[in-house]
Amino acid sequence: MTWLITGGAGYIGAHVARSMADAGERVVVLDDLSSGFAERLPAEIPLVEGSVLDRELLDRTLAAHRVTGVVHLAGKKRVGESVERPLAYYRENLHGLTVLLEAVVAAGVRRFLFSSSAAVYGVPDVELITETTPAAPINPYGETKLASEWLVRATGQAHSVATGCLRYFNVAGAALPELSDTGVFNIVPMFFDRITRGEAPTIFGADYPTPDGTCVRDYIHVADIAEAHLAAARRLAERDLSGEYGDLTVNIGRGEGVSVRELADLVADVTGDRTPPVVGARRPGDAARAVAAVGLITEELGWTARRGMREMVESAWEGWRLRHPVAPVG
Ligand SMILES: NC(=O)c1ccc[n+]([C@@H]2O[C@H](COP(=O)([O-])OP(=O)(O)OC[C@H]3O[C@@H](n4cnc5c(N)ncnc54)[C@H](O)[C@@H]3O)[C@@H](O)[C@H]2O)c1
Repeated sequence: MTWLITGGAGYIGAHVARSMADAGERVVVLDDLSSGFAERLPAEIPLVEGSVLDRELLDRTLAAHRVTGVVHLAGKKRVGESVERPLAYYRENLHGLTVLLEAVVAAGVRRFLFSSSAAVYGVPDVELITETTPAAPINPYGETKLASEWLVRATGQAHSVATGCLRYFNVAGAALPELSDTGVFNIVPMFFDRITRGEAPTIFGADYPTPDGTCVRDYIHVADIAEAHLAAARRLAERDLSGEYGDLTVNIGRGEGVSVRELADLVADVTGDRTPPVVGARRPGDAARAVAAVGLITEELGWTARRGMREMVESAWEGWRLRHPVAPVG
């Protein structure tokens, strides 16, 4: 079995590639390095530099490495940017997937795992989001993820490909400091960025109908996400061997709600910076609460998250300090 990991030089993809390789799977990465870094990968994992939009390159790569399964993480992920540049998001995320799936079907690859997101749900008013909670994305990013899931499942059914759509909740942390998220688009790096600049962290809205008035989210360590991919990839391989081609669409979270205020307290504790956060205006499109029901993934894959909030924030801070050595030491 050889797995092609698209976007494998990215933050999550590099964790997935390493975790699968460490577990004994053969992997090859395809990445256009638009937001990824070749240095995130060890020398023994081959990197093909190029885009999922390049059909000829895909055909060559699938054949040369005798690929038998694909884990597709490549894509664009900034919600705000997707509102400003919907065409770019649909092109990279949905058209890119279409080209990739055409190559997969032509090459006879029969296992396909897709990186989806809690963004497919939009802002549901429920205590726990299950996989049957209606999907109603509220921005082009979430729309591309939902439309991609439809395409993955339809292709799987029509062409006998075992498929999986993994809906990640709020990803944080790093297995190694050099693998950490370099963007400042998720809340943990946003807090670190403010601290490094000597500014108070901002909480966007403290008047939500939650216990402390701030938004509640489900944070998941990227190393746990990587382990979930390994479990899902192996399940797809088993299904293929037994002639089943179903789809596995599951949430990946911890099933525990943490408020932004609680997260800010933990960040203060880990970094040693006790500047009280300032409360700003609500951001449009933020749900009061978004917490995953995680029963299905445990039942299907025997997987549960093993790492907690402190480990996420500490490992993320270690990675941040590697790139911002002047930051105050916690
Ligand atoms: N980070 C999160 O919180 C989160 C949450 C839910 C879902 N996701 C999804 O997980 C996936 C990985 O996210 P990430 O946080 O690691 O982002 P990232 O930007 O670090 O990784 C994306 C990788 O894909 C590569 N890439 C982009 N377009 C490409 C193309 N056309 N062809 C080949 N490679 C391409 C980039 O160079 C990068 O290495 C994305 O699909 C994202 O939507 C991320």
